Amino acid sequence: MSSPRPIRIAPSILSSDFARLGPEVQAIDAAGADYIHIDVMDGHFVPNLTIGPAVVKALRPWSEKPFDCHLMIAPADPYLEAFAQAGADIITIHPEAGSHLHRSLQTIKALGKKAGIALNPATPTAVLDHVMDLADLVLVMTVNPGFGGQSFLPLLDKIRDVRARITAGGREIDLQIDGGVTPQTAVAAIEAGADVLVAGSAVFKGGAQAYADNIAALRPKAR
Ligand code: DX5
Ligand code: ZN
Repeated sequence: MSSPRPIRIAPSILSSDFARLGPEVQAIDAAGADYIHIDVMDGHFVPNLTIGPAVVKALRPWSEKPFDCHLMIAPADPYLEAFAQAGADIITIHPEAGSHLHRSLQTIKALGKKAGIALNPATPTAVLDHVMDLADLVLVMTVNPGFGGQSFLPLLDKIRDVRARITAGGREIDLQIDGGVTPQTAVAAIEAGADVLVAGSAVFKGGAQAYADNIAALRPKAR
């Protein structure tokens, strides 16, 4: 099956030069990024600490592309408004980060933002059963969250399952994959139904002069 929607690339700034975050965001925007993927980690839900709302706010003037904030924090609810006010366009949460996924998604929508649901490798797709009408994005994690530079887990049946759910629902919902995405691993994932590729290492390798080529290399080649 070929993807029904254009493939979009969401560089993860986790792999960028943190001493130069603003110019890095500007550089990937100019290099063709579709979304700016911002990995928010709390040292509790995942074993790493990264970015908070103040940094998102500081980055907002550096790009007009959608800010795709992937919250790997628990609880997430107390911070949803802060990320919305900081300039997030998409707020993605993990079901395990709170007791009431439906309510958290309602909160994100009430803040006027797009809502995403992120599935860890071991999280079954059944968690989507009663919340798909609130989702604008489903993120299938293809590594265990916490770090860039890990190897891609080929969860292709899971990607197919999510794609089938999106098709059955008939609404536009992004199917994002995140972790270990390279021009090689992207092929099968796109074939399985992914249409937004998050990539950190594969985009930021080689320095700013390589970003445009790195992003282009992730897009499917015309056949
Ligand atoms: C992992 C993050 C990813 C990560 C991807 O917890 O959610 O976005 O930065 O990095 P790569 O592409 O290097 O696997
Ligand atoms: Zn991410």
